[in-house]
Amino acid sequence: MRTNPAPADSTASLISPVISPSLLSPGEPLRLGILASGNGSNFEAVAKAIASGKLNAKIQVLIYNNPEAKVAVRATNWNVPAVLLNHRNFQSREDLDREIVHSLQQYQVEWVVMAGWMRIVTPVLIDAFPNQIINIHPSLLPSFKGVRAIEQALAAGVKIAGCTVHLVAPEVDSGVILLQAAVPVLADDTAETLHDRIQEQEHRILPQVIALAAHDRLG
Ligand code: GRF
Repeated sequence: MRTNPAPADSTASLISPVISPSLLSPGEPLRLGILASGNGSNFEAVAKAIASGKLNAKIQVLIYNNPEAKVAVRATNWNVPAVLLNHRNFQSREDLDREIVHSLQQYQVEWVVMAGWMRIVTPVLIDAFPNQIINIHPSLLPSFKGVRAIEQALAAGVKIAGCTVHLVAPEVDSGVILLQAAVPVLADDTAETLHDRIQEQEHRILPQVIALAAHDRLG
């Protein structure tokens, strides 16, 4: 009698493509600049991946725009220089971005990671680091761009949510998709509980994409 094949391991297909953790660049650490506005759990995930030897990179600088951001405390704890560039002190998005580029260059940054950066970026920044700026977004793009992505997903009634790491392009949340992780939506999920599970996946895929960049496969 034929038996049904064993069900596939559902966790194995959550992240596509599966990337070997051995993707460590043997050369110099990739010099990162992180832009963040808030809590900074993704900053922490990158710092931990580096500290544990899973990622050959160095966070040269954190740039943050909100004086209250917890991410600044995290940077201090990891001995990462933190530069506050408060958008309220700039006349235009371009002026802010010019200062960001200046700081990133001062700290000799090669790759820029937007990890919870709640500002729209302009070509001033994008053109200074062509194809070398990534962003993490809490949805399976191209669905649910922009703010409150998780609330948008719940309102739409999707059964699979997730997160995306993509290259940054002038249009918000629209650059080339690099890596995604899917997260099932549970019947009793709130925006908060779903966000918690999405963040677990964010903390996996963001260091993985940076590992790829360190391996010079994206440039
Ligand atoms: C993440 O959910 C990310 O997808 C979004 O902002 C959030 C930042 O979280 N862009 P944290 O500050 O890294 O904890």
